[in-house]
Amino acid sequence: MGIKSRAREFISRFCFSWPEICRHFHRAQDIRRTAISHRATIIRESNIRDAARLVSQIPNIVNLGQGLPEYPVPQVLKEAAQQAIAADVNQYSNTWGLPALREAIARKMKHYNGITADPETEITVTVGASEALNAALLATVNPGDEVIVFEPFYENYHPNITIAGGTPRYVRLHAPAYTFDADELAAAFNHRTRAILINTPHNPTGRVFTLAELQVVADLCKKWDVLAITDEIYEYMVYDGAKHISMATLPGMRERTITISGLSKTFGVTGWRLGYVVAPPEYTKALRRVHDYLTLCAPAPLQVAGIVALDMGEDFYKGMVEKYQALRDQLCVVAQRAGFKFRKPEGTYYLFTDASSFGFENDRKMWEYLLRECGLATIAGYCFYRPDARTQNIRFCYAKSPKTIAAAEERLALFTDLMVQRDLAKPRR
Ligand SMILES: Cc1ncc(COP(=O)(O)O)c(C=O)c1O
Repeated sequence: MGIKSRAREFISRFCFSWPEICRHFHRAQDIRRTAISHRATIIRESNIRDAARLVSQIPNIVNLGQGLPEYPVPQVLKEAAQQAIAADVNQYSNTWGLPALREAIARKMKHYNGITADPETEITVTVGASEALNAALLATVNPGDEVIVFEPFYENYHPNITIAGGTPRYVRLHAPAYTFDADELAAAFNHRTRAILINTPHNPTGRVFTLAELQVVADLCKKWDVLAITDEIYEYMVYDGAKHISMATLPGMRERTITISGLSKTFGVTGWRLGYVVAPPEYTKALRRVHDYLTLCAPAPLQVAGIVALDMGEDFYKGMVEKYQALRDQLCVVAQRAGFKFRKPEGTYYLFTDASSFGFENDRKMWEYLLRECGLATIAGYCFYRPDARTQNIRFCYAKSPKTIAAAEERLALFTDLMVQRDLAKPRR
């Protein structure tokens, strides 16, 4: 008797009959096939991370795609993290974040943002701003609630709101200046509006919202009793004298604002996964419960290094801004020469361009062309718009070395040559 038939006989003798087992197996498969939640099916794969996975497999690529800073992290931070591990800070931390880190965040919030916050009741350390956004939305949004979002928006917002059961309500930032129309914004507020999600400095456009713009938002929030959730992860990256303003500092907004930031961008430590939320005590209580069950706590030894990071002196911040401003200027020259249209970013480390003049069917096709034919990785703009939007935008990241941007210039010169050849090959009428 073969091994298969012996196994069959054994199973049928002691458990179920063979046809019964087959039936169970198929039923289990059916269940598995359908056991995907609705929320998991309505969100799409992240284009940014999907593209990053693909790009990482292509040799000799020049990568201006995902926002991954290319330069080394300050030595003092690496040593602080290493020492924390060596000193055995390797277990779960306080769920809300190490008290000393929350105190450092409170100092920074007061000094840089002009917000006084109690580390005990108003500050929570999270696994990146990403978790902070999810925790804030899960703690405040009920199914059926609307959350207003400026479009284009950081790719995560749509899935974040959707997972929380909310419905995104989009308000356009109009190109080329990427400003909103106050009447369009006012029309988006209604009795279902639970929150407005604001991101300043803004990914992908590089806008830094002015006091006048934030005031319009604040007035509507107060009028409709709506919460403001602000993502300020690029708060230090502001150029040409632009000033970052935190929504919570506007009159009457502190009690209705959840402020989110983190260490990923400022200190170039996107892999450390350190973010934080500053919110009034009742919101903090609610989002801490969600945070606890989502992730329990942020990485403990890195929180220790985070204290050192937040206490870095003015020279560090000044040096960082100067570096990014120079990189922005370098990339703007390169992109302009290649024929991209854009408004010079006032903040972040992204350049968001209008690529419609190149005549591609859409930005996905153009992204693919730049990648395959020119060896240049970028981000196709469609992921910053509502699903199914027709877009013609390419985003470049300039958190790179001047050498990488110079290499991108060469790839774009090749692109220009290819476009000339393509246009010459077109049949003339
Ligand atoms: C606007 C915005 N918010 C949040 C994040 C994620 O931040 P973190 O690394 O802290 O999760 C990003 C990352 O690119 C971002 O662009």
